[in-house]
Amino acid sequence: MFRAAERPPVLHKAGADRRVAPHLSDYAATRASFSWDAIRRELLGPSAGTVNIAHLAVDRHAAGAQGERTAFRFLPASGAARDVSYAELARLTNRFANVLAALGVMKGERVFVLCGRIPELYTAVLGGLKRGAVVSPLFSAFGPGPIAMRIGIGAGKVLVTTEALYRRKVEKVRAEMPTLEHVILVSDDGTPTAVSGTHDFGALMAAASDRFNCEPTRGEDMALLHFTSGTTGRPKGAVHVHGAVVTHYATGRYALDLHAGDVFWCTADPGWITGTSYGIVAPLLHGVTSVVDVGDFDAERWYSILEQQQVTVWYTAPTAIRMLMKAGPELARKRAYPALRFVSSVGEPLNPEAVWWGKDVLGLPIHDNWWQTETGGIMVSNYAALDIKPGSMGLPLPGVDAAIVERGPAGAPLRFVTEPGVEGELVLKAGWPSMFRGYLNEEERYRKCFREGWYLTGDLAKRDADGYYWFVGRADDVIKSAGHLIGPFEVESVLMEHPAVAEAGVIGKPDPVVGEMVKAFVSLKKGFEPSEPLRMELLGHARKRLGAAVAPKEIEFKPALPKTRSGKVMRRLLKARELGLPEGDLSTLEPES
Ligand code: PRX
Repeated sequence: MFRAAERPPVLHKAGADRRVAPHLSDYAATRASFSWDAIRRELLGPSAGTVNIAHLAVDRHAAGAQGERTAFRFLPASGAARDVSYAELARLTNRFANVLAALGVMKGERVFVLCGRIPELYTAVLGGLKRGAVVSPLFSAFGPGPIAMRIGIGAGKVLVTTEALYRRKVEKVRAEMPTLEHVILVSDDGTPTAVSGTHDFGALMAAASDRFNCEPTRGEDMALLHFTSGTTGRPKGAVHVHGAVVTHYATGRYALDLHAGDVFWCTADPGWITGTSYGIVAPLLHGVTSVVDVGDFDAERWYSILEQQQVTVWYTAPTAIRMLMKAGPELARKRAYPALRFVSSVGEPLNPEAVWWGKDVLGLPIHDNWWQTETGGIMVSNYAALDIKPGSMGLPLPGVDAAIVERGPAGAPLRFVTEPGVEGELVLKAGWPSMFRGYLNEEERYRKCFREGWYLTGDLAKRDADGYYWFVGRADDVIKSAGHLIGPFEVESVLMEHPAVAEAGVIGKPDPVVGEMVKAFVSLKKGFEPSEPLRMELLGHARKRLGAAVAPKEIEFKPALPKTRSGKVMRRLLKARELGLPEGDLSTLEPES
C-alpha cells in the first residue's frame, strides 16, 4: 500500500477489471461520434413527439420477459427485503396516477413527496410523472420551515408523506401552505391512517385501477422541481423537463457504465437530485436492479449490503467514503466484493486519498464525477476505462462542452482561459437535454446564470493540459455539508426569528468528514446576554425549525458582526477570521466599533 506522499499522480487502468467491456473505452472517439439526437432516437424510438420519464423508465420494460426483473430491492431496517419487479412497479405507479386523477390533479400541477426511502416514495414520484404532474421530492430530514417554504414556492397541491412525518413536521405549519389541497399519508405500521384532513395512501391505492394511460407529455413539459440554495434569498426551484431523460440515459451508460444485469446502488436520498436522477430514473431506463436501503449510513451495514446484494455498480458520496475510511480497513476486509465492478462518487470534492483507498480496500478506485441540481445530470466524470488523476473530477461527458472563463465586470465579454492550470469559473455550453429550464417564478435569477450561450456554474475550477477538470471551490457562500447544499440565508433567517437575535451570519467551517459544517455567528439584541443556556436554546430553535440536515452545529456569540456599508453581513470575513486566513479586500467593510 502507498503512503500519501508516494502515490503516483495518475492511477492507470491497465489491467483493470474487464469482465464487462466498458461502454466508453476511447474517449476521443466517443466524443467525436456522440450526438444527442442519436441517443434521443435510440431511447424514444419513432414516437419522438411524446416523452414521459415514467413511461420510459417503467412501462417500457414492464411487458415481456424484462417485466419480471427486479426494479427495486428495498432493504428495511430489519427483516426480509421487498422486491418490486418492473411489472409490479408499472401497476403500482398506474394506481397512483389514478389516485391523483381521482383527486383532480391535472397536468402540470405540483405533487410534493416527503418520505424516507420507502417503496411508496418511488411509487408516488413515478406515478406522479405518469399523471403528468410536476413532482418535487423533499428531504425527510428537513424541518417544518424548509418544508413549508418549498411547498409554498412550488404551489404544492398534493403532499405525500408518512403519518409520523406529518405529525412531527407538517401538521403545525399546514396553515402556511394554502395551496395544499390534499395530504396523503402512508401508514407507519400498516394499519390505515385516520388523521383528520388527510387521506390514507393504502386506501386510495386499493380503490384505484392498476391500468392507466400515461400522460403523453412532451419533451419540454415540466416534470420535476428540485430545490437548491443560493447565497441570498429564498431557495430556488430548479425546473426540469421530461426531455431530461435523454441525459439520464446517456450518463447511465457512459458515466456509470450500467449494463444489463447490473445491481446498482445509489446511496443518495431522492430528496436531493442525485437520488432522483440516479436513484430512480437512470437505473430504470437501463432496466437494471436498484438496491434501496431505508436506513442511514452505517459502515458495517453498508459493507454487508455491497457483499450480500452483490452490488456491481455503486454510486455514493465523499462524506460516506470518508466515514468508511474512518471506520478502518479491517471492517471492509471482513467481507469480499467480487461482484463489484465500478464505484463512483459525487457531490463534493473527493480527496485523492479516497480514490486510492477504494483501490486498496475494495479493489477498485473511486471515480469522481461532477454536476449540479441545475445541470440535472452528470456533466464531468471519470470513466471506467480511463486513467484517473486522483483529485480531478475527470473529463466532460461526450456531448457536453465545458470551459474555464473569467467573467470580468458585468457586461464585459467572457474571457476564455486557454492556459492549462489557470483557475476560473467552470462554464458549460447551454443546450444539453437535462439543463434546468428555469428557477420557478424567478426569470431574472435564471437569466443571470447564462452569458453568451454558456451556463455559468458558480464553481471555480481549472483544466489541465490533458483536459481533466479540477475543482477549486465555490464562487459564492453556499455551504456543502455531507454532500447537501445549504443556503446560509435560510439558516440566518430562522435564527433571526428568535427574539434574542439581532444579526446572524452563517458559514461553512471545513470539517474532515462532512466537508463543511454549518456554523453560525450571532449578535444579540439589547437586553440579552450571551450564555450557554441561550446558545443551547438557539441550537434547539434552529434544529426544530430547519431539521437536522440544515441546522447549525455550532453557534458563536459576537458583540457585532462585520458588515458592508450597505448593511450586509460579510460571511467571507467571518470565515476568514474563523480560519485565521487573510481578510482580503475590506474596502466595503463598515468600520467596526
Ligand atoms: O460545488 C459543486 C459541488 O456541489 C455543487 C452542486 O450541488 P448540488 O446542486 O446539491 O448537486 C447535486 C448533484 C451532484 C457543485 O456546484 N460538487 C458537486 N460534485 C462535485 C462538487 N464539488 C467537487 N467535486 C465534485 N465532484
